Amino acid sequence: MEIKCFKTKNFDDVISLHKQIFHEDNNLFFENLKTKDYYHCFVASHQNQIVAYCIISNIADQAELFNIATIEGFRKKGIAKQLLIYAISNVDAAEMFLEVSTKNLAAIKLYQSVGFNEIDRRKKYYGDSDAIIMRLQMN
Ligand SMILES: CC(C)(COP(=O)(O)OP(=O)(O)OC[C@H]1O[C@@H](n2cnc3c(N)ncnc32)[C@H](O)[C@@H]1OP(=O)(O)O)[C@@H](O)C(=O)NCCC(=O)NCCS
Repeated sequence: MEIKCFKTKNFDDVISLHKQIFHEDNNLFFENLKTKDYYHCFVASHQNQIVAYCIISNIADQAELFNIATIEGFRKKGIAKQLLIYAISNVDAAEMFLEVSTKNLAAIKLYQSVGFNEIDRRKKYYGDSDAIIMRLQMN
């Protein structure tokens, strides 16, 4: 399957995918995404259809992965991994952090597969599950 990864300024595409996958309508976050220049959006496309996206912030040499998702029907084909590797190599930071629920095994596997390591946990951060804090050394 041919997948092209690129950085995009087409935030409306990213926001509509985000709403579709997470069923979440966070207007303040969407507004910030469009107006704050420390947010970076990357997408993976197949035959001109966006099939995955990720949102990264980069402040003072520290990047944070906010979201990554692949649309259903395109999962478990290596697309998120390809996109994340692309994004990591196109963000100019020394390290990247993220938080993930202990219940989200697919995401944990994805993050480990590109080199993130667990550095801490936050108990009951998601109510019924803990958050794992992960870090990737980037240079
Ligand atoms: C997490 C998610 C982005 C993974 O996307 P994907 O395109 O299916 O991932 P990939 O196919 O690139 O897989 C990357 C790695 O994770 C593993 N993986 C992916 N889905 C998995 C699953 N359901 N169970 C176990 N491992 C899984 C793959 O085996 C692969 O590991 P490998 O390289 O060692 O073989 C996708 O499941 C998703 O969109 N989930 C909903 C949104 C979400 O929870 N996002 C993360 C929090 S913001």
